[in-house]
Amino acid sequence: MSSRQTPQEPPERVLVIIPTYNELENLPLILDRLLASVPSVDVLVVDDSSPDGTGDIADQRAAADDRINVLHRRAKNGLGAAYIEGFRWGLAAGYDVLVEMDADGSHAPEQLPRLLGAIAHADLVIGSRYVPGGQVVNWPKRREILSKGGNLYCRLALGIAVRDITAGYRAYRAAVLQKLDLDAIESHGYCFQVDLGWRTIQAGFTVAEVPITFTERLIGVSKMSGNIVQEALLKVTVWGMRRRVQQVSKLFKR
Ligand code: GDD
Ligand code: MN
Repeated sequence: MSSRQTPQEPPERVLVIIPTYNELENLPLILDRLLASVPSVDVLVVDDSSPDGTGDIADQRAAADDRINVLHRRAKNGLGAAYIEGFRWGLAAGYDVLVEMDADGSHAPEQLPRLLGAIAHADLVIGSRYVPGGQVVNWPKRREILSKGGNLYCRLALGIAVRDITAGYRAYRAAVLQKLDLDAIESHGYCFQVDLGWRTIQAGFTVAEVPITFTERLIGVSKMSGNIVQEALLKVTVWGMRRRVQQVSKLFKR
């Protein structure tokens, strides 16, 4: 697997997708940090018609820098739908690696080289808070318990080894997204991350986790809600039960 990239081959083309909803102050900061840390990447901002004018700032930045692109969606329709539209755009444009990154500074662009280093040997790389060396800075206790509990539940229900399946800082090889049926994904909130990760594992792709430091945003507010938590709990339970039923029916087929 490590021979995927030999010195003769051209460097891989990487697209960093940044979904935005009301990130007016954060977007310029993250774009500056990202393009300073890894100047070779291209960026796609996927904005859901943010009322605060984030989309206009994105357009201004795109006009001034060829590496920056913008997709405008008509209304706020969830993180999952924004990423799926971004993935389609990136696949059509022929990128080799597609990265997910929040706009609010929680995912440090300075740590992107870690993810890109590991994607040479894996199909999906997760920037993980819960492997040795990973950490969370400035999260309220409530949020930390929810995240750790959610991950534990996913591991038990789905029988997976991944420590941070809800994480939103990731790099996918294009081949994964080409193979998975993106149309079938209905999850909206952070459940989308579990959904896509679970599909990736079930399709037999390899997953690696690298440690990251997740820092809670300083500016603006989180878009997470009780509905998003409920959606995740319900869906993971259904997927877990489906998995058990499949295991049992395999036993009887023998
Ligand atoms: N286009 C679009 N549409 N963008 C959205 C939407 C939407 O409906 N909802 C949120 N975003 C953008 C935000 O503007 C931000 O850039 C990013 O998605 C993450 O949203 P946050 O609201 O800051 O998420 P969070 O900090 O609560 O959750 C983070 O951690 C979770 C795991 O603990 C995210 O990384 C999640 O993906 C992750 O599951
Ligand atoms: Mn956030």
